[in-house]
Amino acid sequence: MPLIDAHCHLDDAQFADDLDDVIARALDAGISAIITAGADVATSRAAVELAEKYASVYAVVGIHPHAAHAFDDAQLDQIRALALHRKVVGIGEIGLDFYWKENAPRAIQERVLIAQLDLAVEVDKPVVIHDRDAHAELMAILARRTSPRGILHCFSGDLAMARAAIDRGFLISFAGNLTFKNATRLQAIARELPLEKIVIETDAPYLSPLRGNRNEPANVARGAEKIATIKNVEPRVVADATTQNSKMLFRME
Ligand code: NI
Repeated sequence: MPLIDAHCHLDDAQFADDLDDVIARALDAGISAIITAGADVATSRAAVELAEKYASVYAVVGIHPHAAHAFDDAQLDQIRALALHRKVVGIGEIGLDFYWKENAPRAIQERVLIAQLDLAVEVDKPVVIHDRDAHAELMAILARRTSPRGILHCFSGDLAMARAAIDRGFLISFAGNLTFKNATRLQAIARELPLEKIVIETDAPYLSPLRGNRNEPANVARGAEKIATIKNVEPRVVADATTQNSKMLFRME
């Protein structure tokens, strides 16, 4: 099956010892592209270095809401410089996270997000959005800006939000948590959405389908199989559609 892992973190320390093997297993599983995401300037630079090292790896670069405290014009300039790299296919992961109380105040998170949405428009690349407990605030920002296209990574909203995001040019990205037994609400949303608007990711090393284990890009196949079961179609149909969706959005060969 042709597959793309639309979002993961290959720079994570959990991959430090065996990344060559992890990539080899992904290629064996049919994965043609892996998009690894930065979360601050250092990890964005690391993502670009991995994209330079591995042909099948692409990068997105940006400042995650967890790192919004330190954001300034100098950081924005560094992300802009990285964004121009030929293997950087988007700006991310960026967004809002109101779950963790130690994160920057909401107003700062929103300012950091808007600056990077503007950057994405400027460099003409899509965005990878992180949203935790900030659904309404995120949709308000996407509605009032000349918003770029992108994906809502590890989608956690409801069906109405998914449809509103799709109307704004977004794709809905389902992560490994879609395969969890208690994910019935998320699975119901996946059932309703057209395959043309869905992409699949692992968010590796997080959200392993085998809970408690390290996740890796090869497991994106499990996401495709789960969506196929939910939609009562062949896994190949899901793999083809989601691969095409990611390729078109991120403009990968
Ligand atoms: Ni992530």
